[in-house]
Amino acid sequence: MLKDIGAVKSEKVTGLSIRGFSETELNNPDYYRWMIDYDNVKYIGRPEYLSLCIPFSKVEEYVVDLVNSNNDYFFAAYFLDDFIGTIKIGHINWENLVADMGFLIGNKKCRGKGFGTEILRLGCRFAFEDLRLRKLEGGCFASNIPANRMFLRTGFLLEGVLRDKLKIEDSFDDHNLYGLFHDELILL
Ligand SMILES: CC(C)(COP(=O)(O)OP(=O)(O)OC[C@H]1O[C@@H](n2cnc3c(N)ncnc32)[C@H](O)[C@@H]1OP(=O)(O)O)[C@@H](O)C(=O)NCCC(=O)NCCS
Repeated sequence: MLKDIGAVKSEKVTGLSIRGFSETELNNPDYYRWMIDYDNVKYIGRPEYLSLCIPFSKVEEYVVDLVNSNNDYFFAAYFLDDFIGTIKIGHINWENLVADMGFLIGNKKCRGKGFGTEILRLGCRFAFEDLRLRKLEGGCFASNIPANRMFLRTGFLLEGVLRDKLKIEDSFDDHNLYGLFHDELILL
């Protein structure tokens, strides 16, 4: 049984919502398909998935731990009735009231429509308003243009660049580190 964290609807994009990740999404074959799709996982910081032969049981183990952890909130993103992606408020430090944000629009037909940016906004609102967190952080490859744009569009500031830190294919890329306080969140 996974913990239930309710749902948040977008006021900006009709039909878009995030809801607590549950068995429904875990058992949706699309989720496992996204997790073994190189284009999806090369950027999400789960290098073990890059072997492309990760068994479903490992993905399930990861999700169950995440969903049942008191330091992580994991949501499924929906557009109308379609499960299109995920958003995570992770590694919450309850002492400092800081967490990091991770996101995926797994359904590639749904990319480039502003859904990623909007689910990041919804996740940030939940983190600030419901969890009362103080600061959100996020990191991405410098070459991941949509992810960098998403952070900037929602108000995150670039706080640091870890040069040539992350391996991608046959080379190394900068790791861009972003941070956001509640009053900096851009809701437009
Ligand atoms: C990153 C990701 C979530 C973006 O989702 P999305 O729904 O396409 O994002 P949006 O439509 O909100 O677009 C965000 C910005 O990126 C731009 N963008 C989207 N796709 C792009 C592309 N292929 N090339 C260049 N820019 C692109 C958009 O124009 C937008 O910029 P703007 O606000 O200046 O107009 C999606 O590409 C994804 O899931 N990638 C794989 C996982 C991943 O990288 N996760 C992030 C790990 S930190």
